Amino acid sequence: MRKIAVVGTGYVGLVTGIALAAIGHYVTCIDVDENKVKQLKRAISPIFEPGLEEIMKKNIEDDKLHFTTEYDKAIPGAEVVYIAVGTPENKDGTANLEYIVQAAMQIAEHMTSSIVIAMKSTVPVGTNEYIKKTISANTKFSVEVISNPEFLREGSAIYDAFQGDRIVIGASDEKAANLIEEINKPFGIPIFKTDLRSAEMIKYASNAFLATKISFINEIANLCDMLGANIEEVADGMGLDKRIGRQFLNAGIGYGGSCFPKDTEALLQISNSVKYDFRILREVVEVNKKQNLLLVEKAKAILGTLNDIKIAILGLSFKPNTDDIRSAASIPIIQQLLLEGAQIVAYDPVSMEQAKKILPREIIYAKSSIEALLDADAAFIVTEWNEFKELSPSEFISAMKKAIIFDGRNCFNPVLMKSNGIQYYSIGRP
Ligand code: UDX
Repeated sequence: MRKIAVVGTGYVGLVTGIALAAIGHYVTCIDVDENKVKQLKRAISPIFEPGLEEIMKKNIEDDKLHFTTEYDKAIPGAEVVYIAVGTPENKDGTANLEYIVQAAMQIAEHMTSSIVIAMKSTVPVGTNEYIKKTISANTKFSVEVISNPEFLREGSAIYDAFQGDRIVIGASDEKAANLIEEINKPFGIPIFKTDLRSAEMIKYASNAFLATKISFINEIANLCDMLGANIEEVADGMGLDKRIGRQFLNAGIGYGGSCFPKDTEALLQISNSVKYDFRILREVVEVNKKQNLLLVEKAKAILGTLNDIKIAILGLSFKPNTDDIRSAASIPIIQQLLLEGAQIVAYDPVSMEQAKKILPREIIYAKSSIEALLDADAAFIVTEWNEFKELSPSEFISAMKKAIIFDGRNCFNPVLMKSNGIQYYSIGRP
């Protein structure tokens, strides 16, 4: 059992802290947000994440998990400090390292013995060397920085923390790498040790590759639409090839979330900084932007004008089982629909409070999917929540003015919808 501090209680920091406590370590999480820390101490999660609160509660009760706003309550005596603060996107697409540097300076100020820093935040190649220099210049104690990128997915973060495919440890110091390996051993997940810069690159390359897979299958889906093939059959047939795999071949209206859009842009900027033209990745990003608006294009083609048309938007979060709407397809879709003069009634099972903070004011929020569908001229399915998939054709027909559905996540069987008299348009399915 080791004494560990975790800086940042966002998605990554919180799940990391909870998981490390659950495997037996003594963990203190630091966050500057007082209200958030107050809630966390009472085992109330600031994010919607299935299973998280239960494990958090148990480890707080077992006295293995603590929360504080003060560095001096967590850093002195900690053998390892995880940094898991945000690296938001700057206007030019580069990663903003402001919070990382602030955390590093605070750690340098409060450490009372030598320390190993494990970097969970996604940072450009070379950043961890810079962080080591920054901390070293501000403390008399020795410090090692290792790269320990995070691969968890929102909505299944707990599952990923305990059943992930691999744990990557990038280090220039063997002793530090061994310490992080020992800490992680109880997870029983394969550990891959490498050098610092390669570990930093593994994170960007993995996310960029998955984004590429999605944009690729979306392009194939668009072709399927034009050529009369069925993208689901195509994806299943492709996925049987073990070299390809079926995962991340679900066509739709593009990827969103806190990682893929930000990390693909950041990798493009990293490439620019060494004057390398990463052509595939540029197109992946462009294809995704176009795909985000596909439902609007389809609706315009079918309905002619969208002016004064009442559209029900089902789903606002970037994917199901999360309240996160960062870079969700719902945002450009709604913005474009409003520009076209449409009236929007939106419903999402958990993300409406988040949505209200950033979406245009003109939107009306409904209390249920049926309420959103009431008297609508068309419905857009933007997020594949289970409760939408459970809607029956007759529920759409009796609620809507005209039963016209544009399904961005292929939630329904097109034959069933058509045979029930619904005008149903999905992605890449004839
Ligand atoms: C992603 C990575 O999967 C994770 O390893 C990394 O640490 C953070 O970024 P996350 O953003 O939580 O995780 O969600 P993910 O399940 O990967 O989905 C991302 C986006 O891609 C969603 O908008 C989803 O709808 C879309 N997607 C995913 C598809 O459109 N098709 C697919 O087949 C898979």
